[in-house]
Amino acid sequence: MSRTTADLGFAQLKNPLMPASGCFGWGREYSRLFSLKILGAVVTKAVTPEPRAGNPGPRVAETPGGMLNAIGLQNSGLDGALNEELPWLQQQGVPILVNVAGRTEEDYVQVAEALAGQDLLGLELNLSCPNVREGGITFGTDANTVYKLVSRVRSVCPLPLVVKLTPNITDITQPALAAEAAGANALTLINTLRGIAIDVRTRRPILGNVSGGLSGPAIKPVALSLVWQAAKAVSIPIIGCGGIARVEDVLEFLLAGAAAVQVGSAAFADPLLLPRLAKELASWLERENTSVKELVGLAHRQGGNHD
Ligand SMILES: Cc1cc2nc3c(=O)[nH]c(=O)nc-3n(C[C@H](O)[C@H](O)[C@H](O)COP(=O)(O)O)c2cc1C
Repeated sequence: MSRTTADLGFAQLKNPLMPASGCFGWGREYSRLFSLKILGAVVTKAVTPEPRAGNPGPRVAETPGGMLNAIGLQNSGLDGALNEELPWLQQQGVPILVNVAGRTEEDYVQVAEALAGQDLLGLELNLSCPNVREGGITFGTDANTVYKLVSRVRSVCPLPLVVKLTPNITDITQPALAAEAAGANALTLINTLRGIAIDVRTRRPILGNVSGGLSGPAIKPVALSLVWQAAKAVSIPIIGCGGIARVEDVLEFLLAGAAAVQVGSAAFADPLLLPRLAKELASWLERENTSVKELVGLAHRQGGNHD
């Protein structure tokens, strides 16, 4: 146990730092820059049952304080994950969360069942995908859908389940409580916020998909607020994500109630950000004579209302 140990309930991690899904691939490229062992865990790109080519381009657009992406869950499918990516990552000596996505409830069940016997920290269920059976409504926006999906995955997979929720919703506590009731071991908050950018010269949306997901520093206050609200509502641990680029951002998420954090788009601009954050976090905790565990949720205990 050290100052940097993060407690996810079902596991203790060496530190609270993980890359966010889709911003780190399976870690191969980053492993040439630093040892993945310095991370609390690695979160993989989404795995869907079938390989996906993703959306037509352009797939990313810059915005002030962030970026829009509409990658479209490009991945090599369950076979690619099981035969190529996972065996490599499992040799790197770092806990692994496999991000799972799908178009139907059955897609999530199929991937979870196929991964159930693997040596993993757990699965991260990406519920920000459109449910094709329900007219494209995002899974994570309806508490009943969340409950049903997580319960079904729970029944086929004994691995710890981390449910990643969408911020594009009125009341985050509803899907958060539904996930907890269905047996989720932790939550990840948040995925990207829906956005559009328009090219005034062509008079057309910039992204091939028209809309995309907003990430980066611009979304940090939204993410912090949703972590704060969810932390008040549920007793399972929360992994905070959204706009983290500095050690102070990590600390803010811990204080708001996150037990661990994920770093996404900021690592595109600075590929060595995660190892730097690991060092800076350890030094900050030493200097302040405190620990990750002591900081989690501390801001709630020091008064202040939240509308
Ligand atoms: C290019 C890109 C690809 C992403 N792919 C996934 C994905 O496959 N699964 C997922 O759950 N989230 C995905 N996300 C969302 C991130 O994991 C994260 O929730 C979001 O970007 C907010 O964090 P950030 O502001 O630190 O980037 C993706 C984000 C980006 C920018």
